[in-house]
Amino acid sequence: MLIINSKKTYSPIGVFDSGYGGLTILKELVEAMPQYDYLYLGDNARAPYGSRSFETVYDYTLECVNHLFVKGCELVILACNTASAKALRNIQQKDLPLIDSKKRVLGVIRPTTEVIGNYSKTKHIGIFATSGTVSSQSYVIEIEKSFPEVKVFQEACPMWVPLIENNELNHEGAEYFVKKHIEQLFAQSKKIDTVILGCTHYPLLKPLLEKYLPDGVTILMQGSIVSHGLKDYLFRHPEMETLLSKNGNLDFYTTDSAAVFNKNAGLFFGKEVKSNHLAL
Ligand code: DGL
Repeated sequence: MLIINSKKTYSPIGVFDSGYGGLTILKELVEAMPQYDYLYLGDNARAPYGSRSFETVYDYTLECVNHLFVKGCELVILACNTASAKALRNIQQKDLPLIDSKKRVLGVIRPTTEVIGNYSKTKHIGIFATSGTVSSQSYVIEIEKSFPEVKVFQEACPMWVPLIENNELNHEGAEYFVKKHIEQLFAQSKKIDTVILGCTHYPLLKPLLEKYLPDGVTILMQGSIVSHGLKDYLFRHPEMETLLSKNGNLDFYTTDSAAVFNKNAGLFFGKEVKSNHLAL
């Protein structure tokens, strides 16, 4: 049973996404650190976030983070690149000091950009992401901090999330749009040897990307990078680690229909999910 607001007995790691995509990150977190409790929240009722304004993504994300806090989370991962790009900094700097300065919210972009340069020989890296993430320039700014010698080329793929969400993965439309965006990215630089899937939905497109990417290009999967990053963070922050409850529980919430979430979530999480509805 879920005990709300009792830090001692139930303090899960909150994992937030606009919808299903964050489940690809949660899957890796659970695999790497099964001892913790996790509480997933997908804002399916308002997804996709990818083409929404800065203010909207920030408002929606903050509202959902607050729900996760109320349910007992001390630590929340924004397992959504768009939310990490558009809401994380404000939440960390403006909201957390007012809500509770001991709580933490972390994103998925920083852990990725801190290691990305190590994977590329040519130092030309490509980013596939939502329009919101691309226009925020977050990847470009963060990679510059860790690897100033790296050249970053971005490609917004506004059709990829809708194709995935609408079960079009195995149809011609998906092939067309994957090919199109690969061609547009590589038209910017033929020297790209590493691409980041900068949206948590995109791992589902990996087989198609492998089919159409030029030979020898490495596809970086964010899930394993984020789980390594979180492990390292918890090692460096024992004051947070000791607060987390460790009963290996997984709870799922969606802001839309729980039945629909349960039906679709398996594709992203790799196994069946039983979710609850969260009324906003
Ligand atoms: N999963 C989100 C991300 O990583 C994108 C999905 C959306 O557009 O809501 O950026």
